[in-house]
Amino acid sequence: MQNKVLIYVCVCIFSLLGCQNQSNSSTMKQDNVIENIRTRVSVRQFTGDKISDEQIQTLLQCAMSAPSAINRQPWAFIVVTEDSVLAQLGQAFPYSRCDQHPAIAIVPCGDMSKAIEGEGRDFWIDDVSAATQNILLAAHSMGLGAVWTGLYPTERYAQAQTLLGLPEHIIPLCIVPVGVPAEQPEIKDKWNTANIHYNRW
Ligand SMILES: Cc1cc2nc3c(=O)[nH]c(=O)nc-3n(C[C@H](O)[C@H](O)[C@H](O)COP(=O)(O)O)c2cc1C
Repeated sequence: MQNKVLIYVCVCIFSLLGCQNQSNSSTMKQDNVIENIRTRVSVRQFTGDKISDEQIQTLLQCAMSAPSAINRQPWAFIVVTEDSVLAQLGQAFPYSRCDQHPAIAIVPCGDMSKAIEGEGRDFWIDDVSAATQNILLAAHSMGLGAVWTGLYPTERYAQAQTLLGLPEHIIPLCIVPVGVPAEQPEIKDKWNTANIHYNRW
C-alpha cells in the first residue's frame, strides 16, 4: 500500500514538472518571436559575405508560410545570387540598395495566373506583402539584414520585369536585398496610442 502511494506521488510530481517545462518553453518561444518582431530594422549596408543555400531556403520557406486570400499562394520568388545581376539591379534601382554588397536579393512577385479573378485580384498585393514581411523577420532572426524596397505600383515594376526577363503575368512587388549587416541601425520606436481606436473611430 505504502509503495503504491509513493509511486502515485512520484507520477504526480513528474507530470507537474513536465507541464511546467512545456509552459516555460512555450513562453520562451513567444518571447523570442515578439522580441524578433520588435527589434527588426531595415538594413541597407552589407559586408559582401555570401550566405548559405540552407539560409536561402529557410528564407523562402518562411516567405511561403505566409497567409494568402483563399490560400491561392499567388507568388513567385526570384532569387538573385549572381553579382552581375545584383549590380544591374543596383544601377537600375539605386534605392534598392543592391549596390551595397548584399549576399543576394529576393524579388517577391505576384503570379497573376494564380491570383483571384475579378474584384479580389488585388489581394495578391496583400499576399505577397505578407510573404515579404516574413522574409524580413526570418532574416533578422538569422542574424542577417534586409530591407523592403518598393517597385509596384510605380512604373519601376515594369522595368524590373524587363531586367529580370519575367513573363507578363509575373509582377515584381519589391526587391529585398539580404546579407550580413555592415551597419546596426537604431530601432525606431513606432508605438503611438493615437493610432488605436476601440470598437469605433
Ligand atoms: C512599400 C515599402 C517600400 C519601401 N521602399 C524602400 C526603398 O525603396 N528603399 C529603402 O531603402 N527602403 C525602403 N523601404 C523601407 C522603409 O524605408 C522602412 O521600412 C521605414 O523607414 C521604417 O524603418 P524600419 O524598417 O527600420 O522600421 C520601403 C518599405 C516599404 C514597406
